[in-house]
Amino acid sequence: MQAPYAHPMMPRALHDEHARENFVLDLKIHMEDHVYPGDELVYERQALPKFKREHGRAPQDRHEVRKLMEAEPYTQMWSALARTIQEMLWDDIGSCVERQLPELIEKAKDKDKPLGSLRIDPSFVVPRYNDAVHLHCVPGGYHEQVTKDDVMAGAVYERGAYYYVAGLMGSKAHKAKDTAETPFMGAQGRGTIGYLKHRRPELRPKRILDIGCTTGNSTLCYVDAFPGAEIHAVDIAAPCLRYGHAKAEALGKKVHYSQQSGEKLDFEDAYFDVVVSHGLMHETSYKATRNILREVKRVLKPGGISAHADPQFSIGLNPYHSFMHDWDTHYNAEPFWGTLHDRHPVEWLAEAGFDRNRSFAVWLMRGANGPEYQPVSESTEHSRLFRGIIFGAEKA
Ligand SMILES: C[S@@+](CC[C@H](N)C(=O)[O-])C[C@H]1O[C@@H](n2cnc3c(N)ncnc32)[C@H](O)[C@@H]1O
Repeated sequence: MQAPYAHPMMPRALHDEHARENFVLDLKIHMEDHVYPGDELVYERQALPKFKREHGRAPQDRHEVRKLMEAEPYTQMWSALARTIQEMLWDDIGSCVERQLPELIEKAKDKDKPLGSLRIDPSFVVPRYNDAVHLHCVPGGYHEQVTKDDVMAGAVYERGAYYYVAGLMGSKAHKAKDTAETPFMGAQGRGTIGYLKHRRPELRPKRILDIGCTTGNSTLCYVDAFPGAEIHAVDIAAPCLRYGHAKAEALGKKVHYSQQSGEKLDFEDAYFDVVVSHGLMHETSYKATRNILREVKRVLKPGGISAHADPQFSIGLNPYHSFMHDWDTHYNAEPFWGTLHDRHPVEWLAEAGFDRNRSFAVWLMRGANGPEYQPVSESTEHSRLFRGIIFGAEKA
């Protein structure tokens, strides 16, 4: 089975560690291909008719479907397994990284004059919505530090997220390529860049900001796509930023990383031509999402453009698919997932002061020849799981 592309900062797995990674990936693939589809049959043939007999109608939303399905032994079985797999993954990756942590910390230190820069703020207070819940069950979350100059959370994310995301693709994961030129975990970044270039072919940004960059998987795509642009990336998590900086330097890519919250950036007004995020919004609270979008508007230049990629919203999903999509809210320590996804993205943007007529929301899908974009529609007629979303706005 494939392993993540071995760039100089990638933690190396020993034989037995890799065997465990493969087991987790295979099990995730099996669940996607053979177990989850069975749940829809249980719903259609058993739970839905029962609900209709009792209520004289079909369930109206994901909440009603969840109440119904949580009583089904089949749903209980796969849900317990899915949670166990998630814990097994982080357990395995965690011990693999811990074994080589001193070496990774040493490698992460600047040896020569760096291309880019790293600003860590020792007085930074991690927001409660990150500290109180360790998102998607990663022990310590993105930010916890176990030692001086720690890079552990970054290294765990770098190796672990590969298996996490590849497993969501079912057997298509076997075809997923991870190379220096097209890193697998850069797909959201490449998809967003593709959309920006499609919408604004003339776009030649001088300054780009990526909020919630983690280890820079998406950020680095912007370095290649917009040569000469000044690229900034921020996150609340020091271990991820240290790791991301070291990785960018090792790959010869110039990025300015800094520890700050997207809710309160230290950049001056109208500093950026482009502001992006990838997978950030569903991991912040309702209040923080609102604050971040307001900050995005503040730091964007007039005529500048923002774009935020996230897992799909509930819009366009029928109540059953919406329930399946919402599993993470309840069982994968993603408490903000459902609240964010229940609202139309243009509503979020309008609330932050963006003009509705200059706002957009498209579904991002993997086509045979790269990313494909479709305008988001409220109709549930073609309900389909696993469409990412990109939403954003041009500033007037
Ligand atoms: C799913 S990860 C993003 C993945 C990353 N953009 C990529 O392309 O690989 C979400 C990130 O958002 C960060 N984050 C959460 N709240 C934040 C905030 N208020 N400001 C900046 N970063 C934040 C987390 O620390 C985490 O690194």
